[in-house]
Amino acid sequence: MRVAATADLHFTPARFSALHDQLNRVRDEADVFVLAGDLTNFGRPDEMEPLLNVLVRLRLPVIVVLGNHDFESGREVELMRMLTQEGIKVLDGSAYERDGVGFAGTKGFVGGFGRGVLTAFGEPEIKTFVRASIDEALKLERAMSQLRTKKRVVVLHYAPILATVEGEAHEIYPFLGTSRLAEVIDRHGADLVVHGHAHNGKCDGKTAGGVPVHNVAITLLQSQNPSAVYRVFDV
Ligand SMILES: [Fe+2]
Ligand SMILES: [Fe+2]
Repeated sequence: MRVAATADLHFTPARFSALHDQLNRVRDEADVFVLAGDLTNFGRPDEMEPLLNVLVRLRLPVIVVLGNHDFESGREVELMRMLTQEGIKVLDGSAYERDGVGFAGTKGFVGGFGRGVLTAFGEPEIKTFVRASIDEALKLERAMSQLRTKKRVVVLHYAPILATVEGEAHEIYPFLGTSRLAEVIDRHGADLVVHGHAHNGKCDGKTAGGVPVHNVAITLLQSQNPSAVYRVFDV
């Protein structure tokens, strides 16, 4: 299966024709199209509406997770409903199987990497924050444990490893993802992980267990090739 993946479109209606033109070849180059969060800029239905218009015309299965920007207006449930109504598969701690390939996805959250992972100690505010990070890891756990396929693809918005956020300012690493997500991935095993959010990170990395991880933030893809709007992976 050829999986075309991108992230961080931060779509606004002004980008409609550009994106429409840029995506016109995806159907020839891929079997599914994956969007790894930050579909919109401010999480507003009036941003999602024209984006949906582009996506349904692709006539290709589309699989998405939401990103932090899609939560900005507090209308994420409405956005998910709009996507689902158009036949787009929204993964939120859930799994989806298509043509023998399993997709497990969730947004993920911040929290840091390796020895720097924030733990639930001290003030209740810290515990609430860490709880949100653990909850997203548990959602990924639930999604991955539902998969019965040999081939598995994980879709996240936040990064599960440090390697694909390197290039960003060091000070913000803990806000770009958490290795709690990678621990789940390594426990279950996967063939491919895609994420976004770290707009200026690195394209390729691996979990400690050797699972390939790719940052598909569109800004990053375009820093390699200015006309790229997605990257195609063979699974
Ligand atoms: Fe983004
Ligand atoms: Fe983001």
